[in-house]
Amino acid sequence: MHNGEATPRYQFFDLKPALPDMAAEVLHGLTKPAKSIPPKYFYDAEGSRLFDVITGLPDYYLTRTETSILRENAGSIADRVGQGACLVEYGSGSSTKSRLVIEACQPAAYVPVDISRNHLEQSAKTILGGYPELAVYPTCADYTAPFELPPPVAALPRLAFFPGSSIGNFEPSAAGDFLRGVTQVVGPAGWLVLGVDTKKDPEVLDRAYTDAGGVTERFNKNLLRNVNSAVGADFDPSGFRHLAVYNDQAGRIEMYLVSDRDQRVHVAGTEIRFAKGERLHTENSYKYGPDEFIGLADESGFDCIDILSDDRAYFMVLLLRAR
Ligand code: AVJ
Repeated sequence: MHNGEATPRYQFFDLKPALPDMAAEVLHGLTKPAKSIPPKYFYDAEGSRLFDVITGLPDYYLTRTETSILRENAGSIADRVGQGACLVEYGSGSSTKSRLVIEACQPAAYVPVDISRNHLEQSAKTILGGYPELAVYPTCADYTAPFELPPPVAALPRLAFFPGSSIGNFEPSAAGDFLRGVTQVVGPAGWLVLGVDTKKDPEVLDRAYTDAGGVTERFNKNLLRNVNSAVGADFDPSGFRHLAVYNDQAGRIEMYLVSDRDQRVHVAGTEIRFAKGERLHTENSYKYGPDEFIGLADESGFDCIDILSDDRAYFMVLLLRAR
């Protein structure tokens, strides 16, 4: 079969993102007075698997609530956005949610964007197989900064999708910078469907981040195993305990690993000392009130067109439009 000049329905675009220097970043965080490791290092194969388990836990309301909000409101999103857009998904980890948006909005093209080539290719091919009319152009890039969309989608209206309250890992000022970057990717009048976790009873938050079955604890400690194998370190995960606390002042869940004893760890050739009770900060997960987030979006170049939520207001899906 000869395809002439036609654009193929599947094409992988590799923007060759610079990979982070994990050893340098980890050592930087471990040599500060308040020790920390960035949460992006949770997601090796085992960490991604454990996170998948977390998303199905009864206590972890985020994924289930967001999915049901999308299920109930995908039609109203589609009515506003229209068909035939280019759907740009930030990250490629949530095929259930992507499918809801794809089926309601009938985009002409789907562009998942991720820094991990393997993960990206796998999820893109799964979507490709399910929708014979949809062009799929996985794009390997660091989505925390603006990036070029693949040439075949240049003329399409744009709908960005960033579910999961992943934006909660950013400091609020960095979340604003990120949103500003999304306005550059979608262009004026471009859309963003954004999942954001809300402020709520701290007991509900505490249970979501310290589940009864201890999966989040395993997820948190797996970070140490990942550091051990990826940069060469000798953390003993059993020498630390999981701690998640809601910081009301900052409006965020903070996760830590707390050292059970005085101990020394070797990380990429450098000795790091932990005192008994010392905390290693592994994650911030910011929560926002609706008006608070709309203000941040407004300062960052987005008008809020709709706020979709559940009856308990546990989660919100914002429909934002770039100015
Ligand atoms: C993937 C960042 C949205 O903050 O809820 C889940 C990660 N950490 N349980 C979140 C996470 C502990 C999750 N995000």
